[in-house]
Amino acid sequence: MGLSQAVREAADILSSHDKITIISHIDADGISAEAILASALSRDEHDVRSVFLRQLESTRVSEIPRDDSLKVFSDLGAGQQQLLQDEGFSEGEVLIVDHHVTQPCDIPYFQVNALAFGHNKLSAAGLAYFIARAIDPVNTDLAKVAVVGNVGDMMAREDCGLIGPAREIVDDGISYGNIICSSPELTTYGISTRPLHLFLSYSDDPHIPGISNNQSGAIKFLQRLGIVTGSQKRWPVWEDLLFEERRLVISGLAQQIMASGASLDRLLGEVYLFPDEQTREPVRNASEYATLLNACGRRDAAHTGSSICRGDRAGAYKEAKRLLSHHRSDVGNLLQFILDTGVQDLSHLQFIHVGDRYLDTIVGIGAGMALSRLNRNKPIMVMCAVQGEPTLTKVSMRTNEQMVQQGVDLQLVLATASEEIGGAGGGHRIAAGAYIPTASEEVFKHRVNRLLAAQYAATGQDHR
Ligand code: C5P
Repeated sequence: MGLSQAVREAADILSSHDKITIISHIDADGISAEAILASALSRDEHDVRSVFLRQLESTRVSEIPRDDSLKVFSDLGAGQQQLLQDEGFSEGEVLIVDHHVTQPCDIPYFQVNALAFGHNKLSAAGLAYFIARAIDPVNTDLAKVAVVGNVGDMMAREDCGLIGPAREIVDDGISYGNIICSSPELTTYGISTRPLHLFLSYSDDPHIPGISNNQSGAIKFLQRLGIVTGSQKRWPVWEDLLFEERRLVISGLAQQIMASGASLDRLLGEVYLFPDEQTREPVRNASEYATLLNACGRRDAAHTGSSICRGDRAGAYKEAKRLLSHHRSDVGNLLQFILDTGVQDLSHLQFIHVGDRYLDTIVGIGAGMALSRLNRNKPIMVMCAVQGEPTLTKVSMRTNEQMVQQGVDLQLVLATASEEIGGAGGGHRIAAGAYIPTASEEVFKHRVNRLLAAQYAATGQDHR
């Protein structure tokens, strides 16, 4: 069966059920996927309810209604099939729409999983979009939300743009008229809302000597080019600049990067803009939109994020922007805490325990940001306490493409190490998470280190 056949079958399963419960993940991809499926199904007059979960785990299963509705698991489920079976979900009442690694299971639950079709750059929101489009082509307007989900799940990061089936979704949005693909464009985060000097100074992929992590350097650079005077009352954002000004800045940046001998490869790529949104708003481009959804989901307000995906630009939007400002400062503080405190090193792992200072739902974001500023040759693991669950520890791990090429597979490491001590983990090669018993933290980190060492050894590579 190919992807389009699986999508068709999923659309038929959905169409044949009146009552549907969507169980989705709380991150940007999970919220986008839920909003796409719920919109398409509501338009088709199904009775739809949604439940958002931080993770599909035994303590949360009670949040799933035990009724006669079809249970659609989106952006989760594939790695927890055994739990679904143990909890008594029958084959006929489950549909999984996911892009995480599948856990073996006796019951052959029907799954549309991007990985099964060789697509590792297509997120759950992308799959949800294809299903929505198969239900009714009128749902092409939802391509925009699918692009947000894909970008939010880092599907565009490695290639500086979406590729394969995810790029087909971009084309649908362009044809529909609610996506503009800006290319070649700076791939730096924050084109719509970040004041220009901050926007440039936060840009560190590739590292720009004298500008990355250097606000005054960024201001001097912009003054030298005549883009700003320095006595700005209101800083422009990248999107405010004229085409010629943008070209000037890009060529100035390129010169500084080349002078340092670094590669220009990742400086430019595709950026997805939404012309139906107001300028200088976080929903104006895909990556900032995704952060807004993450801010909602990670702060217990995934339904607010879903309302935004369905078009709310009033109450829910205002609330989301409030959450976003807390989210930004929390993530910034977390990153600073990791950098100030410093990580501890094992032979194949760098790790830190941040205690109960930060929400367990944001430590993965902090881990990803910290990795690019720490040792880029060792995976990073951040542990933290879980609010209200004193016996549980959240673990987030991040690595990069280079280490994945050397054999690192964080999904396998965390799924294996957490299962051995009665926890549960999973995700992707490059980014994975787990919840483990707090009492086993010490054993766990050494086990993770040994598993990583074995992965390097298996490919004959070692970073040391
Ligand atoms: O929580 P965190 O951001 O670190 O998660 C990284 C990835 O691992 C996400 O895709 C998440 O869905 C996945 N994950 C998982 N099982 C867990 C925790 C995280 O599949 N127990």
